[in-house]
Amino acid sequence: MTRVLSCIQPTGDVHLGNYLGALRNWVAGQHEKDAFHGIVDLHALTITEAPDIVGQSSLQLAAMLFAVGLDPAVTTVFVQSHVPEHSQLGWIMECQVSFGELSRMTQFKDKSAKREHDFLSAGLFSYPALMAADILLYDTDEVPVGEDQRQHLEITRDIAIRFNHRFGETFVIPTAVMPKAGARVMDLQDPTSKMSKSAAADTGLISMLEDPAAIMKKFKRAVTDSDTEVRFDRAEKPGISNLLEILAACTGETPQALATKYTQYGSLKVDTGEAVVETLRPIQARYHELMTDRGQLQSLLRIGADKARSVASATLARAQRSIGMLPA
Ligand code: AMP
Ligand code: TRP
Repeated sequence: MTRVLSCIQPTGDVHLGNYLGALRNWVAGQHEKDAFHGIVDLHALTITEAPDIVGQSSLQLAAMLFAVGLDPAVTTVFVQSHVPEHSQLGWIMECQVSFGELSRMTQFKDKSAKREHDFLSAGLFSYPALMAADILLYDTDEVPVGEDQRQHLEITRDIAIRFNHRFGETFVIPTAVMPKAGARVMDLQDPTSKMSKSAAADTGLISMLEDPAAIMKKFKRAVTDSDTEVRFDRAEKPGISNLLEILAACTGETPQALATKYTQYGSLKVDTGEAVVETLRPIQARYHELMTDRGQLQSLLRIGADKARSVASATLARAQRSIGMLPA
């Protein structure tokens, strides 16, 4: 069975765009491939500012992943730091990648430029080596990545090929795959930009945990246009098209078919808000249930970490053997 790995950093709230655009597909696809999902807390440490946040964020993200429907009996959900092999192989990877290669990473260049006067950790620079370890540890065949992570996947392949050449066949060479396209959810106040946790204001963003009244208010205030025609046309009518796409994602109909049912913006806004409330209701209930039983949540994560470790420890041992390190 094809092994697929995706990882998310436990930073910030999960929002409706993440769910309709990505998480829902993870759930739908979990029986087709051998899926591993890492909550990569070590990566979050490269820029974490305050103490006591990363653990709670990891727990909340885990609860959300289970709440949306990832089944711990089928899918391996784990916290990266619970699998110490990531740090161990991470160091080995740092020694396989050159300073020059890491210097060419556009994400590092962007992030370090933005933090010019701030503390710049060495971790932010060597991050792609840890990401290579994340991927190679699981003999991963496929990594679904967006544009922003393509370069990190390229460097992972380069490192793996170089290692295999130098020390003999050790790692599976992973392939970048396009994530299955889900809905594209735009900001409700600025429908030409993607809904994003880094948006300036949160009036255009629906968090997965938002209460029904707040959701309805945000949809009623969604930016549309001064025209009155309901039509699916992203270029000319971005606000209306965004509502239609969200409603379609929640109901299983097509945006084009839904457009023919409406003559007024008001009722489209209300129906879309209600559809989102109903879509999120069971997820929120399950999330809160999981968060009240921290013990159960931790035990689900322990199962994930055990499964992850059983694969990761064998790969690490193989890499150490290939290099010829002295066994303990
Ligand atoms: P991010 O939080 O930006 O790292 O995104 C995590 C996942 O959610 C990625 O697979 C993104 O493609 C997806 N995603 C983020 N924002 C949106 C959005 N507004 N619409 C659809 N998918 C999104
Ligand atoms: N670098 C990724 C991001 O910022 C997160 C990540 C870490 C990742 N390790 C990974 C993604 C391994 C895929 C595979 O979004």
